Amino acid sequence: MRHSILMVSAGTALVAACVANPDGAVETAAAGSDIYYLRAGMIEDINPPTEAIWNMQVEVMDDLGNFDPALMTEQHWIDLENHARILASASARMALADAYVAADPSGPYTEAPVGTDLAAIQQRLDANPEAYRAFATNLGEHTERLLSAARSRDAGMVTQLVNDLQPNCKACHDVFWYPEEYQQ
Ligand code: HEC
Repeated sequence: MRHSILMVSAGTALVAACVANPDGAVETAAAGSDIYYLRAGMIEDINPPTEAIWNMQVEVMDDLGNFDPALMTEQHWIDLENHARILASASARMALADAYVAADPSGPYTEAPVGTDLAAIQQRLDANPEAYRAFATNLGEHTERLLSAARSRDAGMVTQLVNDLQPNCKACHDVFWYPEEYQQ
């Protein structure tokens, strides 16, 4: 059902979305809605699997901060795959949305995040939704690669992709969340 909606709005990305979301793990958007509410998306979908991955890195890293295959149990690999799949799915959903809205006025996250206000975020989204989509697409591609690396149990590639994850977050945050900091 969800996929048929995606097919209408973004047929070419459908395959990626299906791969990223085989079990429907991330389904917080109302069925049939193609508006992406970013505060809810960040808090509920994007941030939790990211934190889980970073926490795992701390748990299984060697002295250099690399994912150490000697410390990775089969359960770690399965958990990593799950986190990566959820994050890839959430990123794909963000990239495929037709419209971006800072916060759902009837949802729980109408307070502005620290350092900015929702009207300012909305203005930036309205001014350049394609830039937002491009950052979201990059995150989606990055997390798909992470999912592949986890599936093939490639600890070196996992390390590299996890280390490069935060710059993906920051690139979009710098432009859409708190650009004020960079204007002084
Ligand atoms: C395509 C743009 C984009 C990408 C990519 C992105 N974010 Fe965000 N994020 C935002 C914007 C805009 C805000 C500020 C508005 C808000 O709070 O939702 C935000 C806010 C947040 C917040 C604060 C939520 C709150 O309001 O309290 C967290 C946490 C967060 N992002 C985590 C992440 C993480 C982790 C990643 C990378 C895995 C990421 N984001 C990637 C756009 C993005």
